[in-house]
Amino acid sequence: MDVLSAEIVADVREASALPPPAFAEVAVAGRSNVGKSSLVNVLAGRRKLARTSAKPGATRGIHIYRLGLRGGAIVDLVDLPGYGFAQRSKVERRTWGTMIEQFLESRPGLRGAVVIVDVRRGVEDDDLELIEYLRHHDRTPILVATKLDKLAASKRKPAIAAVGRTQGLRAIGFSAETGEGADELWRAVLRVAGVELKTSQPAR
Ligand code: GTP
Ligand code: MG
Repeated sequence: MDVLSAEIVADVREASALPPPAFAEVAVAGRSNVGKSSLVNVLAGRRKLARTSAKPGATRGIHIYRLGLRGGAIVDLVDLPGYGFAQRSKVERRTWGTMIEQFLESRPGLRGAVVIVDVRRGVEDDDLELIEYLRHHDRTPILVATKLDKLAASKRKPAIAAVGRTQGLRAIGFSAETGEGADELWRAVLRVAGVELKTSQPAR
């Protein structure tokens, strides 16, 4: 995907502090440290747009990244803090859960969310809850099995299929290290965002 421009347009701690939606939005959600911000960077084709860290808890607020695509289409990707981070205090976890829920529930313009799981762990209870929650609020889940590079090549296909055996969803295999799956994921994001790329551009 040709991403011509990428800029951060929001970085807030409360859904109510966000600017009004301007373009179709797709969020990225999942367990803490699973690779959400890394996935945003791969889609944006920028190494350091979203902050990543080997330690869980890197993303603390709601971050909106505006990506301008060749042909003029624009998509807003929303990087969210992760769930399941045990080292946070109970109160903090509750506040964060509320922040994410408020966003997923009440944000006009939010079309769907990438639900990202570690291909080696598969879909866990928190992820299932999120998928159900999204569907309940008419947001389309896009299931992604990431860190494919951590598996031997022969184990990848069966592992992706196993992740996808959830809720009638098909998982997209992905690796932020190698970029594998990025094209397929972009297609899914555009479909969910309702964005059509102009095809009149000459192929390069
Ligand atoms: P929080 O914001 O804390 O919830 O984390 P996050 O889900 O945004 O994860 P982040 O992108 O910060 O990545 C966490 C760690 O996983 C970093 O050390 C990344 O380099 C690593 N990582 C992310 N994706 C991949 C991947 O596909 N393969 C490998 N090998 N490592 C990855
Ligand atoms: Mg993050």
